[in-house]
Amino acid sequence: MRHLIDPTDLSVEETGQLLNLAIDIINNRQAYAHVCDGKKLATLFYEPSTRTRLSFTAAMMELGGNVLGFSDARTSSVSKGETVADTVRVVSSFADIIAMRHFKEGAPNVAAQYSRIPIINAGDGGHSHPTQTLTDLLSILRELGHLDNLTIGLCGDLKYGRTVHSLIKAMKRYDGTRFVLISPDELRLPDYIKNILPSNFIEVNTLEEALPMLDVLYMTRVQQERFANQDDYERLKDSFILDAKKMTLAPEHMIVLHPLPRVNEISTDVDEDPRAAYFRQVGNGKFVRMALIYTLLGKTEEQPKRLRVLSPTTRRCTNDRCITLSEPVVKQSYTDEDGVERCAYCDHCLRKD
Ligand code: CP
Repeated sequence: MRHLIDPTDLSVEETGQLLNLAIDIINNRQAYAHVCDGKKLATLFYEPSTRTRLSFTAAMMELGGNVLGFSDARTSSVSKGETVADTVRVVSSFADIIAMRHFKEGAPNVAAQYSRIPIINAGDGGHSHPTQTLTDLLSILRELGHLDNLTIGLCGDLKYGRTVHSLIKAMKRYDGTRFVLISPDELRLPDYIKNILPSNFIEVNTLEEALPMLDVLYMTRVQQERFANQDDYERLKDSFILDAKKMTLAPEHMIVLHPLPRVNEISTDVDEDPRAAYFRQVGNGKFVRMALIYTLLGKTEEQPKRLRVLSPTTRRCTNDRCITLSEPVVKQSYTDEDGVERCAYCDHCLRKD
């Protein structure tokens, strides 16, 4: 059994095979119309979603399978206090594969510990969103033809933007990737992601500085739902707005991606620009999720161990949004390259004794 909790749960080779499968599905839709006949996908969404949940649903339906689940945790027994561990133990009896979105960071790791069926992380808080990353990789591949030697601008909320964190983890594995970071000071990358950036990254203060050097501009929304203080959100929400005038500074081949939903960080006057690829990107999400569901249902080998060594710990995580603070899980940690002890669920550092 294999899960997808983090983009690096798939090797570069496996990621390539999955993207190629998605392209084959696009070109031969009928050939895959019954490959999941009789199989069931459970979509457990504890947090709102349009694209991810509906594309998972459409993906399973187009593979011939069925879908059950909830899109509002208040209508499930979670509202009576059921834990993630117990919920997935139960759903393992009803379905063949689970796609889970949760507002607590690390919740899909907990699910994977207790599930008897594959778990797909469909987004956990501000931490990780690996199926969006597969969508992004397929979009770059189809738009530009390759995944290596690219300069990628990441703009907006890099602190809470889980899609950015996962994209960095995936893209840093390709030769010649260069990241350009564009964000307000308060919304810079968390240190556990900044620490893994290739050394050639650069930070700039304006979109105007970044645009001429980019192959891909990855815009993100400022994540209102993650702010403890709404005044901070109001102050930061319009920090970077891409519009048609700024697009005149970008190369002809550059593409604009956005995981969506957008608020107002991309002006609608960009939508008709052929380089605006964000609505084409959404369509790729369904095909890559078809490829993922089909692949994971066919895998029988054990989940490969991540390179980091995990140890039990009694220390508390410093991240208020971590699942270990709200559910009775076995706390585990790892030590990063700088000697910092980090939570194995959400990657934030642990409190010092
Ligand atoms: N990109 C993305 O995750 O969109 P949803 O929140 O609508 O699923």
